[in-house]
Formats: sequence, C-alpha cells, structure tokens
Amino acid sequence: MAEIKIAENSGFCFGVKRAIEMTCETAEKFKGDRQVYTCGPLIHNKLVTDELLEKGVKIIENPEDASKDDVVIIRSHGEGKNFYKQAENIAFHLVDATCPFVKKIHKLVEVAFHAGEKIIIIGDSGHPEVIGINGWCENSAIIINSVEEAEKINPGDYFVVSQTTLQKKHFEEIISKLKEKNCKLSINNTICNATNSRQESCMRLAKEVDAMLVIGGRESSNSQKLYDLSKKYCEKAYFIENIEDLPLKDIELCNKIGVAAGASTPERLIKEVIANMSEFITENNEENLMHDLMDE
Ligand code: F3S
Repeated sequence: MAEIKIAENSGFCFGVKRAIEMTCETAEKFKGDRQVYTCGPLIHNKLVTDELLEKGVKIIENPEDASKDDVVIIRSHGEGKNFYKQAENIAFHLVDATCPFVKKIHKLVEVAFHAGEKIIIIGDSGHPEVIGINGWCENSAIIINSVEEAEKINPGDYFVVSQTTLQKKHFEEIISKLKEKNCKLSINNTICNATNSRQESCMRLAKEVDAMLVIGGRESSNSQKLYDLSKKYCEKAYFIENIEDLPLKDIELCNKIGVAAGASTPERLIKEVIANMSEFITENNEENLMHDLMDE
C-alpha cells in the first residue's frame, strides 16, 4: 500500500477563487439579459471554463469583440490601462476581477513611470499578467526572465517588479546579476505569498516522496513552475492535466506519492486524481485526504 500526501496550499488561490465567484455572480445577475464575456480564459483550466460556458460566459480575445451593453470580466491576471479606456469607448460594462495583488503592481508601476523611473519587469514577456503590468507604463518596461537577459542590461537606475508567480530563487538570481552590472535598483519583490508558500510546500514534499504528481493546466504558469520544482527534487515527477494523464502503472509500486496542484486547479480534479488511486492506498489515507481538501 502506498501513502499519498497533498502539498499544503494546493489548489485555487485567493485571487482565482475571487475571480470565479465574481464571474458566477455576474453570469447569474445578467442571465438572459446581457451577454457576459471574459477577455481570455478566466483561468487556465478547461474544466472551469467549460462550466462557465454552460452558465453563458463566453470567451473573447480582444475587448473590440464586445459590443455596447455587453458585460466584460477582467480576469485575475489583470489588464493594461488601455483596456479601461477601450471599455469606456465601446461602452461595455466592466467587472474587474483583477487580483488585488496584481492591482498593487499596476499602481506601483504607474506611479514609478510618472515619476520618470525606468521599469524592469522580471517575468515571462508573453504572459498576460506581464503584458498587463507593462500596460501601466505605456509598454515602456524592459522585460527580462533570465540571468542571461539581465547580463545585457546597461548600468543605470531601475524600478524593478516581478511577475507574481516567479520562483523566489529565480528572482534573486536575476537581481544579483543586475547588481553585478552596477545597476542601482529600487526592488519590489511582488511575488505573491500564495505562490511562495505553494512552491515551498511542493518542494518540501517532492524531497520526501518517491513520485510527485502536479495537477494543473498546461497553460498555467504556476502549475508549470510546481512541476519544474518537483522534477528537480524528485526522480519521478508527472504533470497531470486530466485524469487520463495519471501514470497508474508507473506509480503503483511507489511507497510515498506526493500531490501538488496549481492556483488554478479545481478541487474536484484533485479529488478525482485521488479517487483514481484508491486501489493502492488505504481507505483511511483516502478519507483523510478528502477531508483535508474540504477544509481548505
Ligand atoms: Fe493573486 Fe497570488 Fe493568486 S497574485 S491570482 S493570489 S497567485
């Protein structure tokens, strides 16, 4: 019999829970009256976006795809300043579900930009959160995501913020390189605590188990980071997007199996994964795991 352990802080973070609740409330409020959209998928999880579609919430890629009187929800990743202007121009109704922690970065960047500071965002230039942050300094930020890119930065004064889902170590390595390059930095470590604690719990668990299962959407950057950490500390690490990905044959002989889930992973997918492993864990273990999930 194997023992399964779930990393603490697995599953939906505060910002994602809040965005889903706001979207469900909005769908209910405007049902049959106005079309409700999210600009881009609300979270990187198909189970959730399919459920929202059933409630009538459709996805558009650009604000221009909405018409006057439609309702458009800004997801937890946030948007650039221009998005709010477009909402006014098109006159659609805006529901802002930007995570308050991301909103804080927007404010920091906007104030620094108006004070004439040069901004560096440490993060993935293609990620919607980073694109949104850059939109609060008229897309003038320098975006870097590696020590090699930091190496190319010219000496000078910079105001630095980070994508909320970065690994702390990665952020610190880039900061050290910038300092080496004689950059004078005003550092704002804007990595979200939910991210930090999720990554630390995942890392601790990966070190003590024989196999690690990371449950999340392929597009979810924070789930991907949990997987990267798991691979580093555990020989057998698997990324599970849906139940078909569960490598039952590979893990059935393991004594200890760890489970971690990204901030956009619904609880019921975590439960489904556990239920599918019920054959080789004790009933007691399964009951405790389900109980822990309910408590979160
Ligand atoms: Fe917000 Fe942190 Fe989640 S920034 S969306 S609470 S990972």
